[in-house]
Amino acid sequence: MELMSRNDFKTIIMDQRVGRGGQKWEGTSLDYLQKVMENPSLTRFAPGRIYDMVAKYGSRDVDPSLKTRGYEDLIQYKFFDGKIFGTFEAIHDIMRFLKAAARRTETGKRILIMVGPVSSGKSTIAYLIKRGLERDDSPVYAIEGCPIQEDPLHLIPHEDREFWEEKLGVRIEGELCPVCQLNVDTEYSDEDGNILWENVPVEQFRFSEQRRKGIGTFQPSDPKSQDISELIGSVNMAKLTLHGETDPRAYQFDGELQVSNRGIVEYIEILKADVKFHYVLITAAQEQLIKAPRFPQMHIDTLILSHTNQTEYDSFKADKKNEALHDRMYPIMVPYNLRVEDEIKIYDKLIKESEFANIHIAPGTLRIAAQFAILSRLVESTKVTNFIEKMKLYNGETTEEFKKQEIDLKALRLEGRDQEEGMFGISPRFIINALNIALGMKEEKNCVNPIDIIRALRQNFEHQIGITEEDQGRFLNLLIGEKDSVSYEYKQFAKKQVNIAFLYAYEEQANALFDNYMQNAAAFCKKEKVFDSITGEYSDPDEKLMRSIEELIGVPVNSRTEFRNGIFVYKTDCMESGEPFTFTSYTPLKEAIEKKLMSDLKNVVTLTIADKTSTDEKKQKRREKAFRKLVPQDREPESHVDYCDHCANMLLAFIGEVLRKEE
Ligand SMILES: Nc1ncnc2c1ncn2[C@@H]1O[C@H](COP(=O)(O)OP(=O)(O)OP(=O)(O)O)[C@@H](O)[C@H]1O
Ligand SMILES: [Mg+2]
Ligand SMILES: [Zn+2]
Ligand SMILES: [Zn+2]
Repeated sequence: MELMSRNDFKTIIMDQRVGRGGQKWEGTSLDYLQKVMENPSLTRFAPGRIYDMVAKYGSRDVDPSLKTRGYEDLIQYKFFDGKIFGTFEAIHDIMRFLKAAARRTETGKRILIMVGPVSSGKSTIAYLIKRGLERDDSPVYAIEGCPIQEDPLHLIPHEDREFWEEKLGVRIEGELCPVCQLNVDTEYSDEDGNILWENVPVEQFRFSEQRRKGIGTFQPSDPKSQDISELIGSVNMAKLTLHGETDPRAYQFDGELQVSNRGIVEYIEILKADVKFHYVLITAAQEQLIKAPRFPQMHIDTLILSHTNQTEYDSFKADKKNEALHDRMYPIMVPYNLRVEDEIKIYDKLIKESEFANIHIAPGTLRIAAQFAILSRLVESTKVTNFIEKMKLYNGETTEEFKKQEIDLKALRLEGRDQEEGMFGISPRFIINALNIALGMKEEKNCVNPIDIIRALRQNFEHQIGITEEDQGRFLNLLIGEKDSVSYEYKQFAKKQVNIAFLYAYEEQANALFDNYMQNAAAFCKKEKVFDSITGEYSDPDEKLMRSIEELIGVPVNSRTEFRNGIFVYKTDCMESGEPFTFTSYTPLKEAIEKKLMSDLKNVVTLTIADKTSTDEKKQKRREKAFRKLVPQDREPESHVDYCDHCANMLLAFIGEVLRKEE
């Protein structure tokens, strides 16, 4: 690393600061009117501001197969790229809610409540929105010194509002807070009792949770000791004697709802809180009002983003006592992800943030874990043969079954949704715990491979409280069942990896097979005989050999002539454009040769792997070559795509074992 001086650091820091909201604006509400005239979006309500903040990053269309539940317009917001994977529908729902809330429609006047199983990403969504607001560079203005950073348009007297609303093309909503009211009454009125509101100072501010500006968080604690002041502030006893009971100077407007004015309040585990808190929230959401004792109602403009887990929600819903609250809430389901690819990305993200960052995770490990997690979240369906099939379909894989039956993906997903698919099962956190366990079980703590994770997963759910015996049985089947299980899938995956590695070592074999085929096919096309260099005799082209290759890619007997002729047409084209014609040139033929080699390979692989001690030079060379294919020389140490020496040996040993058992 290049050494740097103190001055170098200073320069860097100053460069970093350039253009970062440094230009703090100050003026009066008169100046502010001018600003609003130029840019009416300054006066957006909080949900609208948040909507724009997210939308500004752009969006893209999602895969059509994911557009279910009448979501023809489902899009993916880039704001969440690299941070939230899958979960498009929940985010889409939130955005739709924000739009409604920005226009103050009835829908938008409810309390948004994200409902989902543990660790489905609810807190993360809230976190990202809060941080996004802090980074947002679109300006916000407030009355200077206002404890709730309120919109300066509140200064406009009611009788004049209609005029200004029309003039500026905005909506003005809400009263001055008690502090500003007192300030205006005492400092900005003339002898005749006129309020000189245009002179009131206005400042620009930035959202900051740390500084308690526009972002709040409420977390329920012991319902007995927690009181409402956490939401709506409290009387300051020391100042009470000084100013008197109804003086705003004796009140601290520092409840979470006040702090979060103009922005967002995250309400954690909302249903764990006492109902008295709910009523405060409902009025805040419905009327944009909160009431502190002995003070006039205060106008609050904030997005209440709450969350709860599924269990809590179910019992809340079932309780008749809460009926009045039900239609005041706007639940948004945040289920687990159901796509293996997205699930792997979640683990990748979590791993990068954790102490695993330097551990080698062998190819296939995270896939296995993800497959297991997804399988645990699925509901049965008569439309597919088994869970594995469903998992693959959701992942966008086109399976044989899929092609055969033309399964309607949309119907499949809708059917799942009706049965709360994704609202139960194994969580990402559970998987990361299992990775931890896997590491703990190993002597050399540098690698985790698929076998380790299978073992660790099993251990983890057998020792986890809250997993029923029935679920344990189900999970065990999904994990290590004879067929239609994660282990079975892994065996196929591992075999393929080894085969490909060996295939590579068998390049010369592939070439030989290719030459042989071409020679026979040429003779066939020209209706000639083939010269056998060993026997020195001429014989008919070897039909059996040619067919054994062609059959592998489904060339029917009666079109073999066309197929063979086709190859020579292709070959001529190649030669004419100066390209060599090898076994990889013509894709159908390449595929066929690979398949043929693979089917012959089993014995070779078995022999080579099983017989590690063999001194046969040829065998050793092949093993070495295959090994190098698995472990490239230029391997990135943390790559999840390549094997390390240790993991490659484990893989070969595993496959050796599998093949021996299959004998
Ligand atoms: N869809 C997802 N995309 C990216 N990360 C995810 C996703 N789902 C879960 N995670 C990750 O899993 C971890 C747990 O998620 P989070 O804490 O947000 O869940 P939660 O729904 O709030 O859970 P709880 O109900 O336990 O509070 C986080 O690190 C989060 O980043
Ligand atoms: Mg949470
Ligand atoms: Zn105020
Ligand atoms: Zn390794």
